Amino acid sequence: MELSTILKQLKENMSRAYAPYSKFHVGSVIRSTDGSYYNGCNVENAAYPLGVCAEGGAISAMVQNGSREIAEIYVMGSGDELVTPCGGCRQKIREFSTPETKIHVCGPEGLRQSFTIEDLLPFSFGPDNLKHD
Ligand code: THU
Repeated sequence: MELSTILKQLKENMSRAYAPYSKFHVGSVIRSTDGSYYNGCNVENAAYPLGVCAEGGAISAMVQNGSREIAEIYVMGSGDELVTPCGGCRQKIREFSTPETKIHVCGPEGLRQSFTIEDLLPFSFGPDNLKHD
């Protein structure tokens, strides 16, 4: 999928966010390494901490559909700041990442900056840490 198509999809996903409390709409698109695309938006809750980020929603959709590896994950939010994934989402992304996985941070005008998971979550704890005899 071309970047312009992904940017349109991100805007569509942002528009579907349920964010009555923060009023901050976020959209996400994942391309898995097996070539499928998954969408997410943030879904807040009156019990505030139960809200789910856009990235978390896209990851759940990916896993439910049988994909387990993120080639690229795009995140789009508004405002001047970079909408980098929150700490919890960095850990969620890390679970399904490789060193080549790209995290693309976008604004409504386009791609702003790209990162690896090592950039965002160095010295991370992951599935390999749980391997033992
Ligand atoms: N949010 C996301 O969905 N993804 C991010 O990368 C940053 C923050 C959501 C969580 C909450 O619904 C709202 O944005 C404000 O924090």
